[in-house]
Amino acid sequence: MYNIALIGGDGIGPEVVEQAMKVIDATGVKTSSTSYNLGASRYIRTKEVLPDSVLDELRTFDAILLGAVGPAIGSKEVPSGTLERGLLLKLRFELDLYINLRPFVTPPSGANPAFETVDFVVIRENTEGTYAGEGGFLRKGTPNEVATQGSVNTRFGVERAIRFAFELANSRPAKNLTLVHKTNVLTFSGDLWQRTFDAVALEFLGVSTSYNHVDAACIYMVESPSRYDVIVTDNLFGDILTDLAGAISGGIGHAASANLNPARTGPSLFEPVHGAAHDIVGTGKANPIAAIRSGALMLDFLGESQGANKIFSVLSDFAPESGATTSQIGDAIAERVSNAN
Ligand code: NAD
Ligand code: IPM
Ligand code: MN
Repeated sequence: MYNIALIGGDGIGPEVVEQAMKVIDATGVKTSSTSYNLGASRYIRTKEVLPDSVLDELRTFDAILLGAVGPAIGSKEVPSGTLERGLLLKLRFELDLYINLRPFVTPPSGANPAFETVDFVVIRENTEGTYAGEGGFLRKGTPNEVATQGSVNTRFGVERAIRFAFELANSRPAKNLTLVHKTNVLTFSGDLWQRTFDAVALEFLGVSTSYNHVDAACIYMVESPSRYDVIVTDNLFGDILTDLAGAISGGIGHAASANLNPARTGPSLFEPVHGAAHDIVGTGKANPIAAIRSGALMLDFLGESQGANKIFSVLSDFAPESGATTSQIGDAIAERVSNAN
């Protein structure tokens, strides 16, 4: 029995998390879930984002499954970043979820004929870079205002992400790892990433390596994405590249992610790559597959590989009927999973 904290969050978050739990239940893996009401509606009511007492409770779970948090773009009630920084990034930092693992596999239905079939994983460093919040304002509000937003890259943080990526690449048939950065312009952080990458590579002589600048990686990801096996990159490049990767591999509604604390000093957090999609909330148009696949990543990390593989194998052969709603897709996948052995 696993204790799972559910954070449905905002917009379509609760809709897709409900489908993910339906499918997890269908695997036969026993879970006990507790829902936490966090996100825009709680903030608007109480001005609370993530009370310390809730954070401490969350630390006690085996895993956290999250839908999406964030207000509608342009919302005046919730200042931009309040929930993203105060809730999601706070969880990533406080729980030391230093790996954001985002696998991309072209689904049978979503194969957009414009793009090659892909099967690659992006390892995104998840606790540093521009997300660290370094910087601030000078002379705020004046005509001479300056805003800086620095990027924090520690040898420790960079190395643990790169090492994780090498280990993953070493376990896959293609055994190829690409570092994506912008070493031609980011001469300090890029240099640290490149030197660390080269040093760790010496421990993994069976893994072939390459390097792409992030702008060129955007070309390759659209024009010849089958070249990629595992990509390792920093927090912001990883954020942007993984929306692109979602779009070329069947749509953002399929892209799953695992925010991992590989040392297992606390729970890891699983969530779709997409956001709250306020434009389609309540319409039944939200694709729950990204959340369902995130649930499978959760089972896998918990050691329930049999349950996880049931979900992965159903998804590898599943195409929703056209016009199927969020819950109809969830039902259809749950039924196939419960019939899988
Ligand atoms: P978004 O991902 O919510 O939406 C972008 C587009 O993708 C929209 O057209 C939306 O309808 C579509 N889309 C997203 N998920 C879909 C799904 N499952 N099925 C079908 N279509 C889907 O990005 P946004 O509009 O930039 O952000 C909205 C809010 O979500 C913001 O407040 C943002 O900060 C937040 N956000 C949260 C997370 C998270 O919690 N992990 C991730 C990204 C964005
Ligand atoms: C993601 C999201 C988050 C990020 C936001 C909501 C903080 O876009 O998980 O990809 O930028 O990491
Ligand atoms: Mn993102």
